Amino acid sequence: MEDLISNSLPGMRDLLPDEIGCWQYVEEHARRIFDRYGYLEIRTSILEPTELFARGIGDDTDIVGKEMYTFTDRSSRSVTLRPEATASVVRAYLQNSMHRGGGITRLYYTGPMFRYEKKQKGRWRQFHQIGAEALGSDHPAVDAEMIEMAMWLLESLGVEAHLLLNSVGCPNCRPAYVERLRGELRRNSGGLCEDCRRRSESNCLRVLDCKVESCQPLIARLPVITDHLCAECAEHFARVKECLDEAGVAYTPAPRLVRGLDYYVRTAFEIVSGELGAQNALAGGGRYDGLSEALGGPQVHALGFALGLDRLVMLLPEARRAERRWAPELFLAHLGDAALKKVLAIARDLRHRGHACTLDPSAGTLKSQMRLANKLGARHVLILGEDELARGAASVKCLQDSSQREIPFDGIAAYLGERAPE
Ligand code: HAM
Repeated sequence: MEDLISNSLPGMRDLLPDEIGCWQYVEEHARRIFDRYGYLEIRTSILEPTELFARGIGDDTDIVGKEMYTFTDRSSRSVTLRPEATASVVRAYLQNSMHRGGGITRLYYTGPMFRYEKKQKGRWRQFHQIGAEALGSDHPAVDAEMIEMAMWLLESLGVEAHLLLNSVGCPNCRPAYVERLRGELRRNSGGLCEDCRRRSESNCLRVLDCKVESCQPLIARLPVITDHLCAECAEHFARVKECLDEAGVAYTPAPRLVRGLDYYVRTAFEIVSGELGAQNALAGGGRYDGLSEALGGPQVHALGFALGLDRLVMLLPEARRAERRWAPELFLAHLGDAALKKVLAIARDLRHRGHACTLDPSAGTLKSQMRLANKLGARHVLILGEDELARGAASVKCLQDSSQREIPFDGIAAYLGERAPE
């Protein structure tokens, strides 16, 4: 016999039935909220031409440089498992001429993303995002509306989170700032870690994001982008903050916030949670007015965010987790073959009437069937033996208060209906 393959790849995992209820709950909840804001779902391909991410996210980023799952397909084409979905959404938007419709196109997506990152708590190589993109407007109220939606989504799930907000400027004002930053870094390179010394030359904004303790004193003294914004970016940022204030959305200005993807201009934000530990980012996003052009399309003003579902599910309050664990309303226990035939028929009828019930035809004794009902968390157990069968009724026991009644077969649906939880 061949060796059993019993392990998934490092950083990959299965989402098991025990927790899947929480995932479905979060996804359904997010869909309801996105729906209220007019976001429509888009499902893009998971495999894309490598060039899409190289041009979209940026060759110098860690994602493109080190983390992509890239391979050559059977037509010798370089393809990549998507490390994020924004570039794919913009590709689909352009490919399907959605930009011709005018106005704002609001889209959302959910699904797996792939990044070959170092393993760490809260970090997987296949992880899941739910994200939204609004294309076709540069109005600051659109930025604020999207951030408000993300914060409301988390708040309504009972998850405590904190918004960090920045503006990273635009191609007009950022180059001069980057030059200043690089100059400062060259003058002070002695105090920097090796990664930062390298980044100072290749992608010096990333130095601001370094978490190494010894780099922090220098980072704290570096100039900040918000002091170097052009008049248009400064005005845009001020209006975004004003709209957030009006919407009652609290934020912390984070002038050193930079994102790990190169496409951002102006608004950049992260939503963090203290409960997550080192990988504290629950969501990230911002404006990417130049991405469409980088992909060969016309200029399209746009912004978006993505939320890490794996991390969000970890933070879901216990009460909501418990609510979402599947449990049958009724477990049907039988004694003997004639009773089994009858419970199969009763179960079929109840399921058609909308009740969740289950049974185990192969379970032996009544005791083992009761054990199973308890293990599944069934709210009620129906017990059918030969005597009850002869009387045309079954014993139904409520496992919450241990009360027991004999109920005629045609009264079971009504009994369950009366006792259904709110
Ligand atoms: P991102 O910041 O790379 O942004 O990812 C967004 C969120 O995905 C993170 O805040 C985190 O919760 C989750 N995440 C990222 N990597 C991992 C991982 N290895 N394991 C678990 N969770 C992870 C983007 O992906 C942009 N596309 C967001 C965006 C949309 N910007 C504009 N539109």
